[in-house]
Formats: sequence, C-alpha cells, structure tokens
Amino acid sequence: MSADFFAQVPPAGARPDWTIDQDWPAYTAAEHGVWLTLYERQAALLPGRACDAFLHGLEALDLHGQGVPDLRELNGKLSALTGWTVVAVPGLVPDEVFFEHLANRRFPAGRFIRRPEQLDYLQEPDIFHDVFGHVPMLTDRTFADYMQAYGEGGLRALRLGRLHNLARLYWYTVEFGLLDTPQGLRIYGAGIVSSYGESAYCLDDPRPDRLAFDMIRVMRTPYRIDDFQQVYFVLPSFQRLLQETLQDFGPIYERLAALPDLPMRRTPADHVFQASPSRVNR
Ligand code: PHE
Ligand code: FE
Repeated sequence: MSADFFAQVPPAGARPDWTIDQDWPAYTAAEHGVWLTLYERQAALLPGRACDAFLHGLEALDLHGQGVPDLRELNGKLSALTGWTVVAVPGLVPDEVFFEHLANRRFPAGRFIRRPEQLDYLQEPDIFHDVFGHVPMLTDRTFADYMQAYGEGGLRALRLGRLHNLARLYWYTVEFGLLDTPQGLRIYGAGIVSSYGESAYCLDDPRPDRLAFDMIRVMRTPYRIDDFQQVYFVLPSFQRLLQETLQDFGPIYERLAALPDLPMRRTPADHVFQASPSRVNR
C-alpha cells in the first residue's frame, strides 16, 4: 500500500507525483517468464474461487498475452471501461501520494517483478500483485467508485489522525476481502488472488474465521502482514460496501477513538461463515 517515515521525496528519476515510465521494452525474457508462471498458476486455480467481477475483469483486460503487461495497452482498455488508469511507481509511495492517485482514479503499481525464487512470498508489492491482483476489480463500476472514494477518504483520515482505522478497511476489503454469493464464498481481495497458497487457504482451510462484514468491527480489527490471515470479512455485495463507505466517517472516527481493538478471531457478536464443506481436505 504505502510507505511512511522519512522517504518523503521521490527517488531520483521519478516525477514529483512519484510516477516513472514503465519502460516495458526493458523487461527481460526471464521476467516475462515469471509473470507467465504466476499467471498460469492463478488462472488454473481461480475459476470457482474468485468472484465473477474479478474473472470478468481478467478476461476484459486480456492480462496474460506476452508476459508482463504493457501499461499503455492495458490503460487503453481499462480507461474505456471505468476511467481508471495504472501508473508505474518505483515501489511503496507515501500515504498522501497514494491517496491522491486513487482519488484521481490512478492506481500506482510497482514496476519490478519478483525473482523466480520469490514466486510464493515477497515483502513489497510487485507488478504481479499490483496489476494481476488489483486491476481486474477496477473494471467493476461499483468497485471502481469505491476505490476512488477510498482515496478521498484516505486524505481525510490522514488529516483527522484516523488512518490506522481506515487502513484496516483497505486491508480487509481491497486486499483480503471475500464475497458471499449464491454459489458460495468467493475471493475479491488482491492479496489473495495474487497468492497461490492463500487462494486455497482462505476458502478451504478450517483454521481462519470468516466473519460477516461490519464496518466498525473491521476498523477495530488489527491485521498481520507476515502470514496468511486468521480472519476474513465477507461482504454481501460491492454495492453495500460503497453505500456504507459513502457515509460521513467523522462521527464514526469519534466513536472509534473511545473503543478498544477487537481480536483477529470470532467473538460472540460476529456472524460466522463456514468453510466450503465440499472443499475442506481437498
Ligand atoms: N466516507 C468516508 C469519510 O467520510 C470516506 C471513505 C469512502 C472511506 C470510501 C472509505 C471508502 O471519510
Ligand atoms: Fe495491494
């Protein structure tokens, strides 16, 4: 998502808004190979697990083609659908820079791709996570509007000193969200769809809790960045997410200031979803 502390000026070669040219011709054959390997693993796993909006987005953007996507081509398709574009950045960017891009329907994506020995784990988001994971959902009109509103809300949360609460909403929706559908639970979170291990674990494994989405509950729940999640929140629809987040968070932030954090585990107040029984132990 974003970096804070002292690196508040763009690195040499980046523009004042932290963007850089993608320089697509510079990707090596090995780098394109890493994209294709990751793409093929996920494309085989995600039908029946990822939500329709994600799968349709992947199709509409034709993201597999020649390996690492050329952002100029991708942006032609994406901007025609929802007015979003993807901009290349060197790595994590400061919070205000990140939110400012989102508020203008620009999604900042890392330009580099992980090395072949890092297929399953890396610390900083690369172009596979950012583009394969995040961009398909930006073809969905409702989700696209939510992401823009989130950018505007992020700038406000920064001013109000409540970014730690709002960041949890991003984490448990944009990165690790699940959706309830008539066919069962489906994935829409970018951190899951870009991870081979977590794409199976989040739906099939009996260990994590899958709790009904509740805005205040989510903003009171810390998260861990070093392992698979112990708790996921399940949305009834993207419309509902957008609708709830369009309310004024001012009074909510005031309430949150007086409320303690909640565990990354079910509590008696939570509505719990079961792991898909047909899939357990598979
Ligand atoms: N409505 C929120 C506010 O008043 C902003 C927001 C929108 C936050 C969308 C998250 C997602 O601050
Ligand atoms: Fe991400």
